[in-house]
Amino acid sequence: MKRLQNKVLLVAGGGADGPPNKGETLAIGNGRAIAMLCAREGARVMITDRSLASAQETAAAIVAEGGVAQAMEADVSSEAACRAAVEAAVSQFGALHLMVNNVGIVYPLDDFSIDTADYDRLMSVNLRGQFLMLKYAIPEIVKAGGGAIVLNSSMAAIRGGGATYGPSKAAINSMVRGVAVRYARDNVRCNAVMPGLINSTLARRTGGEGRDAAVAPLIPMGRQGTPWEVAHAVLFLLSDEASYITGTEILVDGGFCANINLAPLPRLSR
Ligand SMILES: NC(=O)c1ccc[n+]([C@@H]2O[C@H](COP(=O)([O-])OP(=O)(O)OC[C@H]3O[C@@H](n4cnc5c(N)ncnc54)[C@H](O)[C@@H]3O)[C@@H](O)[C@H]2O)c1
Repeated sequence: MKRLQNKVLLVAGGGADGPPNKGETLAIGNGRAIAMLCAREGARVMITDRSLASAQETAAAIVAEGGVAQAMEADVSSEAACRAAVEAAVSQFGALHLMVNNVGIVYPLDDFSIDTADYDRLMSVNLRGQFLMLKYAIPEIVKAGGGAIVLNSSMAAIRGGGATYGPSKAAINSMVRGVAVRYARDNVRCNAVMPGLINSTLARRTGGEGRDAAVAPLIPMGRQGTPWEVAHAVLFLLSDEASYITGTEILVDGGFCANINLAPLPRLSR
């Protein structure tokens, strides 16, 4: 039996906003990899995104592999859109058991000189958007008899340096604890995944082609992670294999946060 058989999953931010890797036709980001991997494990997936075309591209990739998926437009900064996204998952597939909110934005300038309007926009998407998706998804998951939720945080949640992105992600880590404690007796688990430096659409869009060469020497494993490696951690947290895990985070960072000196490491011998 597949690990998410008979489950309905909503992935917010399940499109991909950036270029594909060289030699690949489909651009893979964290959200798209999560949706595709969970569909391969039997979940019926509602993919929502502020870009309908991007959500549809993910759904088409799933259907092409023999999976079940639907797409709809929903910007998580809109309360009405978050409510509609949850309603659509339930009306399309009959229930909601699992939810992943992958949406997160970052500005090139992330220090205390940032415009207050940009600060408000980032918090509205990264933090308020998480709250809104939880507000509407949790009652449906409870109604379905329980399930699991994973929020996409970041290693930035536990490392300083930015004025907006890191604080927004740190609040997500606190939020998963709040949900976990409040809804444990309703059979709802809630955890976060904290990606490190991942070669995702977000990274390729904001960091350009040079990012891998620039950051790889800083990572103990000597390379960026892939969106599929983030997706496997999310799949585990959603699955029954994580049945006693709630209110915590998994770092997926190739050892980055374990490295005390954060200086370029000696070349790995391979
Ligand atoms: N790549 C990394 O190195 C890294 C590291 C740590 C954390 N993360 C986290 O991973 C997540 C994104 O990864 P990705 O590769 O899927 O990125 P991505 O930029 O491709 O975003 C995924 C989707 O989110 C959608 N989106 C953006 N704003 C939205 C909104 N307001 N409402 C609904 N959808 C919206 C985009 O249209 C896109 O299709 C973020 O939460 C990010 O903070 C990434």
